[in-house]
Amino acid sequence: MKIFLDTANLESIKKFNDMGLLDGITTNPSLMSKEGGNPKNAMEEITKIIKGDVSLEVVSTEYSGMMEEGKRLREYGDNVVVKVPMTPDGLKACKSLSSEGIPVNVTLIFSANQALLAAKSGAKYVSPFIGRLDDIGQDGMNLIKDIKEIFKNYPDFKTQILVASIRHPLHVIDAAKIGADVVTLPPVVLDKMMQHPLTKIGLENFLIDWEKLKDKNPDIQI
Ligand code: E4P
Repeated sequence: MKIFLDTANLESIKKFNDMGLLDGITTNPSLMSKEGGNPKNAMEEITKIIKGDVSLEVVSTEYSGMMEEGKRLREYGDNVVVKVPMTPDGLKACKSLSSEGIPVNVTLIFSANQALLAAKSGAKYVSPFIGRLDDIGQDGMNLIKDIKEIFKNYPDFKTQILVASIRHPLHVIDAAKIGADVVTLPPVVLDKMMQHPLTKIGLENFLIDWEKLKDKNPDIQI
């Protein structure tokens, strides 16, 4: 399973990239807005730091605007995936951009039918938002299971399931058990995945015991 970071924050991107954890990045207009400043700089930097796919989202809502923005976004790098919303115009743009060899991520997917249509339009990724479904009392992970089952039935679909709107580490485990292709994680979730209280306690005890040994043998070193 690939891990993308769901952020436009350069510090977080560098931090996790240096650990070798990142296969790509997803952004959206809200994440850009959260960072403030000129998104152009962020897009330039992110596409330079990350070798894998970087999803950059259009803000036009009609076809021709999406096409223009999609092509401009693609100028940031060959690793740019154009993110379009799951609308009729978004699907039309997905079809056109994909036919021109520009990969597309169809975002704001909340049903298996939407995922099916995005795959038919040639999307490289579909982004089902599981946390937002959980928020309104629907089981987001069931949607991932449904999409996985459908895509498995049609091996001709090359579209990858990119699980988005992830809220906590259990979402990641469940998505991996289902066999989702990608999870995109807020930095806070990736931080939590690394931690375990027994790791912390274990390390503290190792160091205490080492100090005891050093008290008796002051010259030792590793
Ligand atoms: C990623 O592609 C999505 O834009 C993002 O995961 C949405 O997450 P949110 O529901 O926490 O805003």
